[in-house]
Amino acid sequence: MNVSILGIPMDLGAGRRGVDMGASALRNAHLSRTLRELGHTVHDLGDVPVAIPETMDKHIESGLVFLDPIVQACRTTAERLAALPDDVFPLTLGGDHSVSMGTVTGNALRGNAAGTRMGLIWVDAHTDYNTPSSSPSGNIHGMPVAHLTGRGDPELVGLGGGWSLRPEDIVMIGIRSVDRFERDLLREAGIKAYTMKDVDQLGITRIVAETQERLSDTARLHVSFDADALDPSVAPGVGTPVPGGLTYREGHLLMELLSDSGRVTSMDIVEVNPVLDVRNQTAEVMVSMAASLLGQRIL
Ligand code: ARG
Ligand code: MN
Ligand code: MN
Ligand code: MN
Repeated sequence: MNVSILGIPMDLGAGRRGVDMGASALRNAHLSRTLRELGHTVHDLGDVPVAIPETMDKHIESGLVFLDPIVQACRTTAERLAALPDDVFPLTLGGDHSVSMGTVTGNALRGNAAGTRMGLIWVDAHTDYNTPSSSPSGNIHGMPVAHLTGRGDPELVGLGGGWSLRPEDIVMIGIRSVDRFERDLLREAGIKAYTMKDVDQLGITRIVAETQERLSDTARLHVSFDADALDPSVAPGVGTPVPGGLTYREGHLLMELLSDSGRVTSMDIVEVNPVLDVRNQTAEVMVSMAASLLGQRIL
């Protein structure tokens, strides 16, 4: 496969600094080489330009922190991805999870596939379904999914130029932290979320089978993997850790089974924070997750 790597070194959407270095940490953990060894042709397209917080006033408008520069970076990201040919597998590196408003939009509108339905698999401790009015923090990384489904700030919603994701085309896995009003919005939208209780009870195999069934009307799948979906003992380098996450093997099994489906056409790796990490462990684990999604097998 032709894999194109694109970094979005942005931490403007997060409450803590450091995830802007995530893309660099993932490259440092031999991302390209690992994927080449699996037989892929890998092109690193470099980084999307992102404003540096120290160069700006902490700009809060209508409850949103750093709205303008986030809109800009997401717009550039979406444009870069939408311009890639259909046979490319874009692997986008955050950055905080607000980058996914750009990546999901760009991938949905990419090439000849533009207009066909794309399913979104959101692997995360959080549902990231806050709107500017429900958010307890104002941090945009807690809001990308709401905006992708057309609710929230008009500029962020408008990134797709009228396109938005249908709530029934989204499945979330690994969930264990949802804010009070966010929960109501999620329920109202009818988005399927597999919590950690579901992971314990059903197991990853059944969850993936149900997910395939549920997303069978879509033409392809995008996987957005927030490193904090994994248990903090496996992935300590994240800004918003929540106990009780996916084990190392649950993460890999999820990626292996999604890879077996042959339906995944793009992926994000987000929220890796080298400042809080232990010797780049989190970046290394996330590189191994990408490898499993892109065909690595034990035998
Ligand atoms: N729910 C919290 C908020 O809205 C935390 C969101 C964390 N999101 C993430 N992508 N790590 O602020
Ligand atoms: Mn403004
Ligand atoms: Mn997230
Ligand atoms: Mn998260």
